[in-house]
Amino acid sequence: MDKSCINVGILGWGTVGTGVSKILMNQNSLIAKNSGTELCLKKIVKRTLPATRQGVELPMDCLTTDPAEVVDNPEIDIVVELIGGVTTAHSLIKRAIQNGKHVVTANKALLAEHGGELFQLASEHKVSLNFEASTAGGIPIIKTLQESFAGNQIHSLYGIVNGTCNYILTEMHERAVDFSDVLKVAQDKGYAEADPTLDVEGIDAAQKLILLIALAYRSNISLSQFHVEGITSITQKEIQYARELGYVIKLLAIAKLTDGNRVEARVHPTLVPERSLLANVGGAFNAVCVIGDAVGPTLFYGQGAGEMPTASAVVADVIDAAKSVQQGVSSPISQAWLAGAQAEVGVCPIDDIETRYYIRFVVADRPGVLAKIGTILGNWQISIASVIQKDPHGMETVSLVMLTHKAQEKNMKAALAEIYTLEDVKDEAQLIRIEEEVDF
Ligand SMILES: NC(=O)c1ccc[n+]([C@@H]2O[C@H](COP(=O)([O-])OP(=O)(O)OC[C@H]3O[C@@H](n4cnc5c(N)ncnc54)[C@H](OP(=O)(O)O)[C@@H]3O)[C@@H](O)[C@H]2O)c1
Repeated sequence: MDKSCINVGILGWGTVGTGVSKILMNQNSLIAKNSGTELCLKKIVKRTLPATRQGVELPMDCLTTDPAEVVDNPEIDIVVELIGGVTTAHSLIKRAIQNGKHVVTANKALLAEHGGELFQLASEHKVSLNFEASTAGGIPIIKTLQESFAGNQIHSLYGIVNGTCNYILTEMHERAVDFSDVLKVAQDKGYAEADPTLDVEGIDAAQKLILLIALAYRSNISLSQFHVEGITSITQKEIQYARELGYVIKLLAIAKLTDGNRVEARVHPTLVPERSLLANVGGAFNAVCVIGDAVGPTLFYGQGAGEMPTASAVVADVIDAAKSVQQGVSSPISQAWLAGAQAEVGVCPIDDIETRYYIRFVVADRPGVLAKIGTILGNWQISIASVIQKDPHGMETVSLVMLTHKAQEKNMKAALAEIYTLEDVKDEAQLIRIEEEVDF
């Protein structure tokens, strides 16, 4: 189709929607020069019309409160969904696709839940569904996995993909403050939501991991299939002891291809070597480390959220969709997801993973306790790499901090259950998995 101008409609004019409208209005000629495509912003939908134009010069009659003016409008070629949430976004995207429109979204929650169905629909209607901004904001990791690494078997992938958690953990490391105090500051500064549950419980990172796995392994997995653990139980003690042992704690979204064609998928706080590049990704920044069989270790770093970085990724998708409009084809990204629906790559249960562990026990300050714990761990084939005894707690208890060699998770769980029956063990242990592979 030879169209001089590709018409774009945006659903949602909040943080990201505003950024996208700024780029489309202010960089129109640059986009045309760089991509050979002229984009025309036709409509923007908002629930309530604003009193001001939020610093953007919009075309006349651009703003509306009626989504039908975008999704059912025959003039619109590309629909950009930036309202967030699942229910309304789901039905509007479906309607847009059924009306033959290419769709761009930044909505990881929606795709993590309904990706399979929406990509199927997009394929049936021969339109693209692009989602670069849904994972790691401004970092072009979706396209990289899909296109640049298409000739690689992805061995493993490690992502710092939640800026809120990374900000909190960085502050805990640098300022020696407790989780709840940093969370409050993060909320005051706008780095954390008033209800931070999705972020600090690891759900947001897990939704992004689902999207990364769909592309890296062509495997469509759901949230209920893998281990997700947030950062709420990380204490200042763990931060300090990890550092003494040469590690930094990061919330990582991890995927690894295991033998037998299964994928390990997990989100949890992780000890990473403090000299590694990932350990030095600070504040609200994101990073994704991808290790491919041909390319080796790679690291992508940048802003994972915010108005303009996220808008940058959305606009890149809009430009790709515009090319799809001109060429009358759907983008390969949608096709990849669809292929995953037929793939038979299973998820490796957390019990079957093998990793090293940091464990902190609070125990009675008595001779023989370490030997009892060591014996139980040994009986479950868990060998201790190092032990330090820390700080008498004032109540005749001390912390025993251990690093183990690689052990199986199910053995670790069984050993801990047995250790908790010892009278000298005063509380549940702090258990944090260690990843050494990111040490480059
Ligand atoms: N913010 C980021 O840094 C970031 C980063 C990566 C991805 N994302 C994703 O991008 C999407 C948008 O995020 P955001 O931060 O821009 O959200 P936001 O600031 O809350 O903006 C949402 C916009 O959608 C509009 N809206 C909500 N429900 C609507 C409905 N039913 N009909 C019409 N308009 C509706 C709102 O209108 P009113 O203002 O009138 O209510 C508002 O303009 C989400 O999926 C988010 O996960 C965001």
